Amino acid sequence: MPSIVVVGAQWGDEGKGKIIDYLAKYVDVIVRYNGGANAGHTVNIKGRKYVFHLLPSGALYSGKTLVIGNGVVVDVAQLLDEIRTVEEAGYRVNLILSNRAHVVMPWHKLIDKASGGKIGTTGRGIGPTYTDKMWRKTAVRISDLISRNFRDKLREILKLKEHELKHYGIIGDSVEEYLEEVYSSLSKLVEAIKPYVDDVSLRLNEFLDQGKWVLFEGAQGTMLDVDHGTYPYVTSSNTISGGACTGAGVPPTRIDVVLGVAKAYTTRVGKGPMPTEIRGEIAEHIREKGGEYGATTGRPRRIGWLDLVVLKYARRINGFSNLALTKLDVLSGIKTIKIAIGYELDGRKIDYIPASSEEYARVKPIYVEFPGWRDISRDEWREIARSGVSTMPKEAIKYVNFIREELNVDIAIISVGPSREETILLKDVFNIKEWGRY
Ligand code: IMP
Repeated sequence: MPSIVVVGAQWGDEGKGKIIDYLAKYVDVIVRYNGGANAGHTVNIKGRKYVFHLLPSGALYSGKTLVIGNGVVVDVAQLLDEIRTVEEAGYRVNLILSNRAHVVMPWHKLIDKASGGKIGTTGRGIGPTYTDKMWRKTAVRISDLISRNFRDKLREILKLKEHELKHYGIIGDSVEEYLEEVYSSLSKLVEAIKPYVDDVSLRLNEFLDQGKWVLFEGAQGTMLDVDHGTYPYVTSSNTISGGACTGAGVPPTRIDVVLGVAKAYTTRVGKGPMPTEIRGEIAEHIREKGGEYGATTGRPRRIGWLDLVVLKYARRINGFSNLALTKLDVLSGIKTIKIAIGYELDGRKIDYIPASSEEYARVKPIYVEFPGWRDISRDEWREIARSGVSTMPKEAIKYVNFIREELNVDIAIISVGPSREETILLKDVFNIKEWGRY
């Protein structure tokens, strides 16, 4: 039965939240498999804007099972806050939280804030939590947090981390005092979180056995993947489609569809190379029109033209043959639009992403230019969404067709505005007809 991974093809913020929210109506289960509260999914429903950092984006559909997999790092207080927001909006939260997921501890956030500047992290404790996960001796999993021995475990960890935490000024003279402070703040949350905790791999595989439809929601994007992104200017998890398997405990043989999501241009938050970055009037126009400010940190996003070298790389690594193209409306009213089709590195033409970020920072994009199209009002985009893609301006059709042909993908969805009504569906990505579900 269909299971689908929705994955960002650029540097995150591709508009996955909206696409997932749009697809969520078809599925029974929505799973987060990587990252933590560094992500920010914005969903607009009935004129109200909701931002989730940990809950899957489909949280505002009733009757869905939401899952947070073992690959996620969980800020428990933040998660409980989001659950409360959804409940206050009148929805029931049916959540399964992996007992194998790691907990973002108070010191992780402080260390990240004190030392994440070089990479431009979100300060949510992501890197330090994954560091402890990989180091193993100093990590806290959800299963530790809810165990009766949590205080002893915490004491052991603080013994090993004392030197580091003193270095950052997190612990003063008394380790015991700090231990009690952390213990009392976290143990208050244990009873609230316990009912959600379960074995996610077991439950997900059962759901798939029962024929339930499962959507895996990638956080961040391909170019921020810890292995395949622009290292070291990346996040600390596997953001790519393969991350769904490791981060939720489902085998690759159980994934049916991978849907890539790309913005019609490029954005990036934080530091690191971005070959098609532009500054000046057009960048400002796109930033303002597209609301390009970080959903988690509020930082202005860096803006650039669409980069097909990046998208081809993302297509290869994630294996998507379907693409959702978002924010096409934002490009309206620009006289000439560019797309990068290759790079030049030290006078040589290349069509790949160099492993070294120093080299990647030196590449110069090779562009093709497209005539833009007139500014189009929200109402007109809604009308276009209702009447179909052929009613788009012919220049916009040409732009989209070029991307489709160059990438050799099916453009399944075009998003032309934040609301559910501003979505053009071109292809039934789930083969819904074939599976007999409308
Ligand atoms: P971290 O994930 O907070 O460690 O940040 C590492 C890098 O990933 C920084 O450049 C962040 O700006 C970027 N990043 C993390 N999460 C997101 C996201 O959801 N969207 C876009 N960029 C992100």
